[in-house]
Amino acid sequence: MTVELAANDGMIPTGPGLDASPMAVRGMTVSYGQTPVVFSVDMTVAEGSMTAIIGPNGAGKSTLLKAALGVVSSLAGQVSVFGKPLDKERSRIAYVPQRASVDWDFPTRVIDVVLMGLYRELGLLRRIRGQHRAKAMACLERVGMADFADRQIGQLSGGQQQRVFLARALAQEADLYLLDEPFAGVDAATEKAIIDVLKSLKAQGKTVVAVHHDLATVAEYFDRVFLINTRKIAEGTVEEAFTAENLDKTYGGRLATGQIDQLDLVAG
Ligand SMILES: Nc1ncnc2c1ncn2[C@@H]1O[C@H](COP(=O)(O)OP(=O)(O)OP(=O)(O)O)[C@@H](O)[C@H]1O
Ligand SMILES: [Mg+2]
Repeated sequence: MTVELAANDGMIPTGPGLDASPMAVRGMTVSYGQTPVVFSVDMTVAEGSMTAIIGPNGAGKSTLLKAALGVVSSLAGQVSVFGKPLDKERSRIAYVPQRASVDWDFPTRVIDVVLMGLYRELGLLRRIRGQHRAKAMACLERVGMADFADRQIGQLSGGQQQRVFLARALAQEADLYLLDEPFAGVDAATEKAIIDVLKSLKAQGKTVVAVHHDLATVAEYFDRVFLINTRKIAEGTVEEAFTAENLDKTYGGRLATGQIDQLDLVAG
């Protein structure tokens, strides 16, 4: 089979439902080699929602986010952010990559990592004033990491680093937060701290999208889901789309029936 791939030529046409979306992806196809790992995916992020991106390891979840942000190039596909081309609205997006993807081989203090989130406010001269430091400290406070402000980031545990990256995202004062597995490898207290911050963002009308593996907490944490396994399987509210049938399609029958039975799923 030959797959016809259109060149990536920019914006999606605006239309009802598309222009308002914090992020709309159309026909996204990404390949690192011969075979696409994300194929012809459409995604429409609902404003003010908290969406879980769900799928097995290697399903293309991280790749979809990176391609939507233009961090990896796509074979085909278009992205709009708040109805405009990505480049115009990029500063409205805060992105927290999957853990361990950042290697801190040079010494950087925690406070400096958070200050990086303020680049928009700092302007070209990058002159850091007391007010910026105070803001960065307030963000560290929100994630319970204020006591670590002067520590080297490389000297923190994985869960602590995760909190600091969330603080940097908060400092950015974005409108759309994209988080790749924010709860991976963190303990219950950190998970609670992170979810509380995300819920407070939602309460402020911000939009949150997170790659999430723990199916047991999907219904509690999120209001929408996006199921993917190279192709999009389903997207919608938890009630509509987080069904046993869709999970079965997403995981290719690799979830045990017992596991599915324990989930807070809609009967269907
Ligand atoms: N830089 C890369 N070069 C080559 N192949 C890659 C690269 N990054 C990812 N892949 C491959 O693309 C596929 C999708 O990877 P991706 O990281 O998007 O999956 P994922 O759904 O985020 O998985 P996980 O749940 O393990 O994080 C995988 O088969 C992976 O091996
Ligand atoms: Mg991933």
